[in-house]
Amino acid sequence: MNLILLGAPGAGKGTQAEVICKEFNIPTISTGNMLRAAVKEGTEYGLKAKAAMDAGALVSDEIVIGILKDRIAQDDAQNGFILDGFPRTVPQAEALDEMGVKIDKVVEIFVPDEKIQKRMSGRRVCLDCGATFHTEYNPPKQEGICDSCGKELVVRKDDEPETVKSRLKTYHEQTAPLKDYYAAQGKLVSVEGQEEVADTSRLVLDALK
Ligand code: AP5
Repeated sequence: MNLILLGAPGAGKGTQAEVICKEFNIPTISTGNMLRAAVKEGTEYGLKAKAAMDAGALVSDEIVIGILKDRIAQDDAQNGFILDGFPRTVPQAEALDEMGVKIDKVVEIFVPDEKIQKRMSGRRVCLDCGATFHTEYNPPKQEGICDSCGKELVVRKDDEPETVKSRLKTYHEQTAPLKDYYAAQGKLVSVEGQEEVADTSRLVLDALK
């Protein structure tokens, strides 16, 4: 099964991707996590991506399509995958179609903008394995430590309130048109993000049945 998770920054795509990944035993491919790893390693495309990410803007289609192509060619993605954060523009969606990648379903997680700011301020992430937590809604067992790999949890640089506003603007202008793109292909299902992570997970898994 090849899936796309669509939704505004902070809608809970990464959180739900972890649930789907365990349920269906398919890998999550998060372009955001891959770009953050590239920034950390200081690779050539990481250096190019950093300025856009810090400003809450999108990294160029050319860079992102290139890293996605390499990633879905790997062995573990041959029996299905979850795309978290890709595509984010219509040209990226067209590139997927041109690659001959068959998408089975696109799950949109809808959360109003007003709720997003609150979620982002409490988010803590593990830069090592990519796991995501929330100080209030989804706290790690031990404060500041990743449940999955035991490394330190940090606040993401682009989770500052002003940057979150820019990311939401970018989402509405450049990514939301993908809803019409995939609705026209009959692949879009929308799920309303709930207050409890587990409640959203139930709706997402139901939508995949
Ligand atoms: P990326 O990492 O993809 O960021 P994003 O889409 O902005 O998504 P987030 O990771 O912020 O949110 P999420 O929906 O995964 O929410 P989460 O589950 O963490 O991209 C970062 C940057 O990289 C982009 O801005 C861009 O510059 C670049 N980039 C990446 N892909 C690109 C592409 N294809 N093209 C161009 N540029 C690209 O949840 C958020 C918080 O809420 C967490 O703390 C979580 O615990 C909490 N939470 C989750 N669910 C609930 C719930 N039900 N109730 C309460 N709290 C909840």
